Amino acid sequence: MTLFDEVGADRLRAMVTDFYAAVFVDPMIGFLFVGKDRARLIEREWELAARMLGGGVAYAGRTIREAHKHVPILGGHFDRRLELWRQAMVAHGFPEAAVEALMAHNRALRAQVTADPTSDCNHEQVQRVTAIAAPATLVKLGKR
Ligand code: HEM
Repeated sequence: MTLFDEVGADRLRAMVTDFYAAVFVDPMIGFLFVGKDRARLIEREWELAARMLGGGVAYAGRTIREAHKHVPILGGHFDRRLELWRQAMVAHGFPEAAVEALMAHNRALRAQVTADPTSDCNHEQVQRVTAIAAPATLVKLGKR
């Protein structure tokens, strides 16, 4: 019996659906999802999480690095998403082992999602990350 069996396909889908409902309206990270295809995100995240839990499911998405390379994600954004993910798992009564496994898998992907290694308020680092990820945003803000 895998952790995927313990959680169940339907409960995982309900959790990911609620997670994205929270993400899209979140005051800290919701703006990064404006205009994104929520149904597609739910499908891809479901596949990825199912795999992380040992389910024999194929992931049909881009690599994590590729999917996020144009999104200006800072360390705090990464941690906020992870906290919303944890809250959704707890709300759906995930077994402790599944919570731990998904948190660990997500944390391990950090470097592929953001070049910001911490969530500290480090202005030089913030400038470097946003300059790499979103030069167009800086132009709009009149910073270049
Ligand atoms: C370990 C952490 C993360 C995982 C596992 C993850 C997973 C995913 C997956 C599976 C996709 C869809 C890929 C595809 O369409 O082919 C995606 C897209 C996306 N993610 Fe993440 N993500 C993570 C962290 C984050 C964070 C921290 C943010 C922002 C706060 C974020 C924002 C986005 C956005 C905006 C997209 C859509 C990109 C686009 O289609 O232009 N992700 N993510």
